[in-house]
Amino acid sequence: MSDANSAERDLAKVPAFVDPINRKPLQSGDDGASLVEPSTGNAYPLRNGIADLVQPRMASGGIDPKRFDRPLPQVTEAALRWTFRAFGGDEMQLRTRVLDKLELMPDAVVLDNCSGTGATTRLLQDRLPRGVLCNGDLSMELVVHAVQRAAEEDHGSTCRTVWFGANALHLPFADDSFDAVVSIGGFNQFGDAARAIAEMTRVTRPGGRIAIADEGYAPWLRDTLTGRMVLNDNPLMAHMPPLEHLPEVARDVRLEWMLANAFYCIDFRVGEAPPFVDVDLPHEGLRGGTMRSRYEERNAATGHTPADVGRLRANREDAR
Ligand SMILES: C[S@@+](CC[C@H](N)C(=O)[O-])C[C@H]1O[C@@H](n2cnc3c(N)ncnc32)[C@H](O)[C@@H]1O
Repeated sequence: MSDANSAERDLAKVPAFVDPINRKPLQSGDDGASLVEPSTGNAYPLRNGIADLVQPRMASGGIDPKRFDRPLPQVTEAALRWTFRAFGGDEMQLRTRVLDKLELMPDAVVLDNCSGTGATTRLLQDRLPRGVLCNGDLSMELVVHAVQRAAEEDHGSTCRTVWFGANALHLPFADDSFDAVVSIGGFNQFGDAARAIAEMTRVTRPGGRIAIADEGYAPWLRDTLTGRMVLNDNPLMAHMPPLEHLPEVARDVRLEWMLANAFYCIDFRVGEAPPFVDVDLPHEGLRGGTMRSRYEERNAATGHTPADVGRLRANREDAR
C-alpha cells in the first residue's frame, strides 16, 4: 500500500449525517442546496454550505433577538466573559479540565454538542491531529459566526472539522458514531435532560466517554447570602447535575464542581451493559432469600407485579 493510502487508512472517518427525525441516511438534494431523506422527502437546507439539521424547525433557534442589545454571538461572548470574571475563573483552564476527562486519542471522533461561538474548537482540534471534530448548535447564527471565527484563527489544524445546526434532543447521527461527546454551558437549556443524555449516549460508541458541564451552584452554598444572590441573578444556577438521568450503562461516573463551585461537570464512560449484580445470590442469615425473591415477595404483598412496576415507571417517563 502506498504512503498516501496508508495515511488515508489511518484517518478516522467523518460520521455521515442522518435525518434527525427517522435517522435514515441523507443525500444531496437535486437543488444542490439541501440534504434530503429520499423515503420521506424530508429536506434540510444548506446555509452558506452548512447543513441546518435543526429539528423541530423553529425561527431563530427559538431565541427572541429583541431581548438583546447586540447580535447573538456578541451577547454569548459577553455572557461568557462576565461569568468567568464574576466567579474568578480561568476560561481556558476550565475548558481544558473538562476536555481532559474525555481521554481523547489523537484520531478520536468527537462531537461538541452545543459548540456556540466555537470557544472550545481550537482546544479540541489541538487534541485531534488525526481525528474528527463535529460541531453542532441549535443556533445557525452562532454556527455561522463560529465558522468565520475558526477561519480567522486558522492555526493549520489537521483535525477534520465539521459544522452544522442541530438540536441536542434530535442528533443527526447514527448510533455509536463518536468516541466522545462534550457539552459545555448548554445542557441546562436543552429542555429535556433525560432525552439529551439518551441522545448523547446513543451516538457514543460503547467504551466512549461523555462530559457535561454547565452552570449549577453547589448545593451546600445555596443558602448562604452569596448563594441567594447568585441564584436570584441567574435561574440557570439552580440546576443540579443530572445524575438521575444517566443511562444504566454509565460507568466510572465522576462529578466535580468548577469555577468557584458555580459549574458542575459530570463525566462517564458508556459501558457495554449495565453493571453486573448477582440478584440471585442467597442471603446468609435467618431471613434468607435473594434480592430477586425479596423484591418479588414485596411486589406480591403490595399487589404490584414486576410488570406493573415497569409499566408505572414507563408511564412516569412518558408523562415527562
Ligand atoms: C452558553 S452557550 C455555550 C456555548 C459553548 N459550548 C461554550 O462553551 O461557549 C449555550 C449554547 O447552547 C446552545 N443550545 C441551547 N439549546 C440547545 C439545544 N437544544 N441543542 C443544541 N444547542 C443548544 C445555544 O445555542 C448556545 O450556543
